[in-house]
Amino acid sequence: MLEVSMNNLQFSYDKELVLDGVNYKARAGKFVCILGLSGCGKSTLLRLIGGLEKSNPEQLLVDGKPVYGPSLDRAMVFQDYGLFPWMTAGENICIALKQKYKTWDKHQRKEVALKWVNNLGLDEELYDKLPLNLSGGQRQRFATARAFALDAPLLLMDEPFGALDAVTSALLQDTVLELWQKEKENRKTIFFVTHSVDEALLLATDILVLGQAPSKIIYTHSFTEETKPRRETLYTDPAVLDLRNRLTKIINDEIAEKAYRLHEQKMNITDSENNKSVKKHIA
Ligand SMILES: Nc1ncnc2c1ncn2[C@@H]1O[C@H](COP(=O)(O)OP(=O)(O)OP(=O)(O)O)[C@@H](O)[C@H]1O
Ligand SMILES: [Mg+2]
Repeated sequence: MLEVSMNNLQFSYDKELVLDGVNYKARAGKFVCILGLSGCGKSTLLRLIGGLEKSNPEQLLVDGKPVYGPSLDRAMVFQDYGLFPWMTAGENICIALKQKYKTWDKHQRKEVALKWVNNLGLDEELYDKLPLNLSGGQRQRFATARAFALDAPLLLMDEPFGALDAVTSALLQDTVLELWQKEKENRKTIFFVTHSVDEALLLATDILVLGQAPSKIIYTHSFTEETKPRRETLYTDPAVLDLRNRLTKIINDEIAEKAYRLHEQKMNITDSENNKSVKKHIA
């Protein structure tokens, strides 16, 4: 269980400012779902927490300490799965276990890897296949199995179920929720990026919405144990319906604003091209 603290967190790639002052504190054991338009900086935020991008030591603290690089305390499920293509899917889990549990022999590693392959509803015969020969959904599940097998107190999941069909993603949402819930006193802290409002409503203890880049947090919502939606109440509880409408409206307003901005940019480009061509014509 690790606490994550962002204090006016800023981040740029070269000269492009992506995060412009994110303030947020996730208490240990929270399940934080992050929503926001494409390109707003969700993956960047996870990469910063994961130590894959360099952050200002005063602006980002994990467990009260600055983040200086990746750590086995923080397991990540990448948006593009992040499996090594030259290893079988099973070896991808075992290599991660080898780093963390240095005294385990290969039989112990395989036993634990297979347990997680089963937990994620994968057929054991997929264990020996290369990622290339798996479907996108199967790769995603192997990546999730690897993260859970590591048993890290902080899990960073970047749209882990985005590529799955509705039934499979529902099953995996339930699996992740169950795995997180059953630890009770020792729950992992999870940051989970999604584009689905319903997925966020179902999984999160806390929802945050990032605005367009350079982004800040534009909306947050916290549930208590009592108010946290369940699959049975997701479409019936008036409070959940109201929150879904609010979140959908916030996101739709962002889409409309972005579309307007892109249109304006296009018009400016066209105007300046027209001006150039008029000037050329006159000359
Ligand atoms: N390695 C990189 N170098 C330079 N710019 C980058 C890099 N990675 C991302 N960016 C830029 O930073 C911005 C935020 O990217 P990021 O991947 O964090 O967005 P996102 O919110 O995860 O989007 P999506 O929902 O499409 O995954 C984008 O403008 C992107 O082009
Ligand atoms: Mg992303």
